[in-house]
Amino acid sequence: MSKVLIAGGTGLVGSRLSEILTNSGYQVAHLSRKKNPNSKYPTFVWNTSKNFIDERAFEGVAYIINLAGAGIADSLWTKSRKKLIIDSRVETTELITKYIQKLETKPKAYLSAAAIGIYGDRGDEELTEASAIGKKGFLVESCVAWENAIRMAGEQNGIRTAALRVGIVLSTKGGALPKMTLPMNFFTASYFGDGQQWYSWIHIDDVCQMFIELMKNESLEGFYNATAPNPLTNKDLTKQLVKALGKRALVIPAPKAALRMGMGEMADVVLNSNRIFPARMEMAGYEFKFSEFQAAIKDLKAKDI
Ligand SMILES: NC(=O)c1ccc[n+]([C@@H]2O[C@H](COP(=O)([O-])OP(=O)(O)OC[C@H]3O[C@@H](n4cnc5c(N)ncnc54)[C@H](OP(=O)(O)O)[C@@H]3O)[C@@H](O)[C@H]2O)c1
Repeated sequence: MSKVLIAGGTGLVGSRLSEILTNSGYQVAHLSRKKNPNSKYPTFVWNTSKNFIDERAFEGVAYIINLAGAGIADSLWTKSRKKLIIDSRVETTELITKYIQKLETKPKAYLSAAAIGIYGDRGDEELTEASAIGKKGFLVESCVAWENAIRMAGEQNGIRTAALRVGIVLSTKGGALPKMTLPMNFFTASYFGDGQQWYSWIHIDDVCQMFIELMKNESLEGFYNATAPNPLTNKDLTKQLVKALGKRALVIPAPKAALRMGMGEMADVVLNSNRIFPARMEMAGYEFKFSEFQAAIKDLKAKDI
């Protein structure tokens, strides 16, 4: 079966994708910043500051999926943190591109994560891939730099290149969901500001299946929104989350001013409104496993994934 090299494969999406690919008979290997002798997957080290990738990683590789990047909301957006957020996406993309160029036998496709942050803060506007990208904010700036690097990868490698503009990935193992459910232990659940901003969520298995779709369907190229077809406002999503988990919790607002004071510019992550629709994936015939939020939550909880 085909070999898939996943950069950043140790992360939230990468771990689940590795599991699904392995169960489907693919051979999976990881590119990581550190050796990981205990990993289930052969792991090859890379280092962007040294322009280095262990070349053995590319042996027999049919697909490369790049999921690497420093966490967007892991720490405050200082100047150096912003640089790291961009560099860890752009430089990793450029480094892989450079190594692919050297390969005699090139992979069938280069696939990458991107993010819906590219659309910026857009209120109630319904957004598809045909919509204009955002005009301001660090999320837009970083996503544009990332997508430019992905586009260059496609042009310079001469291989099929496609990327998912990933929405809010739902998983019990990390990302936004555990942070949203934590206050429920204290019988509260928070929405942010007036809660009217749109959240475009996606079940982690749908993201993984979309990457597999990008691998299999050779006609797919370019950028695809990876969000469920039913985005919700932040307030509605919070209420539905409480209901889906069968919790008793008072749904209360976290005031915008307090969020700005505590998180600074990074509050964009929770306050920006992104009402996004996966038009291109649906046009490609992708069938969602989970298009309804409560069903997605119940499934994640039942499977603990
Ligand atoms: N989760 C979401 O809701 C979401 C939403 C939109 C977009 N995305 C994008 O989708 C991709 C995968 O998301 P995820 O949630 O799986 O991310 P994640 O759990 O944070 O994992 C990303 C991986 O990137 C690697 N990494 C971290 N910092 C790095 C750095 N400075 N330089 C190079 N590599 C670094 C790490 O692998 P090693 O430690 O093994 O090197 C890490 O496991 C990311 O690019 C993310 O921005 C995710």
